[in-house]
Amino acid sequence: MPADRNIRMHTGAITRRDRERLLGQRGAVVWLTGLSGSGKSTIARELETRLYARGRLCCVLDGDNLRHGLCADLGFGPDDRRENIRRAAHTAALFVDLGAIVVTAFVSPFRVDRAAARDLLGVDMIEAFVDAPLATCEQRDPKGLYKKARAGQIPEFTGISSPYEPPEQPDVRLRTAEMSVAGCAETLIHHLRERGIVPEAHQQ
Ligand code: ADX
Repeated sequence: MPADRNIRMHTGAITRRDRERLLGQRGAVVWLTGLSGSGKSTIARELETRLYARGRLCCVLDGDNLRHGLCADLGFGPDDRRENIRRAAHTAALFVDLGAIVVTAFVSPFRVDRAAARDLLGVDMIEAFVDAPLATCEQRDPKGLYKKARAGQIPEFTGISSPYEPPEQPDVRLRTAEMSVAGCAETLIHHLRERGIVPEAHQQ
């Protein structure tokens, strides 16, 4: 990319803080990472529902959904996954600037890609490891993809023919083989309260 592309950043009179004051919350990203079938999308939707019920503005960015549109041109090789996570992180950053709580559900298997998202989002990113053993995910196999991957029909399938690098120090760990979906969502809400992203229940 040329150094000078004749473009510059514009800012307005209304800031992120103004929008956050309007909403009574802080913008943040709950970055769910884990194997396919670990429970990311289910937890994301449950968290969204619970935050909405508490009057909080929240949206979900889901890998399966983004790959139908914004990321429809991307596959599952390492370079395409990096680009997928880069686009997801930048999209999340736009919504954080709006003051929203963004819940992302991407396998995001590579540490380097999650680190790049962290570089962009900084303290606004809460990394939550949706931790389920591969055997459990394979047993659940909600989309029948593990079966196909074992049969050699899906190349570079995470956990089977492509690695998953677990976070070393996630902000939150959700063991979905042992904890209910409701329990996982409440654990995340507790974390959001502790960080002052959503107010305590009695302050709402
Ligand atoms: S990521 O690795 O780039 O973060 P993303 O979360 O967007 O992946 O998409 C993962 C979803 O795509 C999985 O839930 C699964 O349904 C589907 N999928 C299709 N092929 C693959 C593959 N090779 N590896 C992992 N997931 C795949």
